[in-house]
Amino acid sequence: MPRQFFVGGNFKMNGSVEAIKKIIGNLNSADLDPKTEVVIAPPALYLLLTREHLKPGIEVAAQNVFDKPNGAFTGEISVDQLKDSNITWTLLGHSERRVILQEDDAFVASKTKAALDGGIGVIFCCGESLEQRESSKTIEVVTTQLRAIKEKIADWSKIVIAYEPIWAIGTGKVASTEQAQEVHAAIRAWLKKEVSDKVADETRIIYGGSVSEKNCKDLSKQPDIDGFLVGGASLKPAFTDIINSRL
Ligand code: G3P
Repeated sequence: MPRQFFVGGNFKMNGSVEAIKKIIGNLNSADLDPKTEVVIAPPALYLLLTREHLKPGIEVAAQNVFDKPNGAFTGEISVDQLKDSNITWTLLGHSERRVILQEDDAFVASKTKAALDGGIGVIFCCGESLEQRESSKTIEVVTTQLRAIKEKIADWSKIVIAYEPIWAIGTGKVASTEQAQEVHAAIRAWLKKEVSDKVADETRIIYGGSVSEKNCKDLSKQPDIDGFLVGGASLKPAFTDIINSRL
């Protein structure tokens, strides 16, 4: 069964009410490929605004969620609060949270379990640093991050894996089609060996790291690249070209 193409937009800590309404207006008026699953991740403050104004068929994701159901966790957001707000996805494990906020594999895995168990889809981010790539540790790093969630997931149908080489994020240095395909194929091989043939065949593995309307078509033709997680370019009108990269 062909995997549905998936494009996520990670706005990171960018935007304002006015700017996000403009992005939403661009998406609402665009002719988007109906075969592409689209999920938009604004800053938490704008989740309700985005959900309220975005046309049906485009889903909204949080950029993070906590692993406890409620309580004295200042500044955190729970899975139930996302569901209460009709937010159906969350990013987890983004390298900016692993590096800047020191989120370790165990914490990311605990949050992944909480989100999936609570019925929220997870875009699980993994990827290596330039130093790790240059010392040929890419596959080891990525599979270690995946191994942390392996025992926590009962249902893999609501998880999308985003391979995001840290050295390509925000740098304009997109991975080559060969580099990206090689890691995506290794992730799929890991799923086949460690989980099942079915999960390996059906799980979307998407690429993130300086994706643009100029490089998305070639990347989208790779057999194990099932979509994108887009940062900077998701804030621009050409984001619709990335959504339509398989047209
Ligand atoms: O989560 C997507 C992000 O890390 C990629 O950022 O700006 O390189 O597309 P960017």
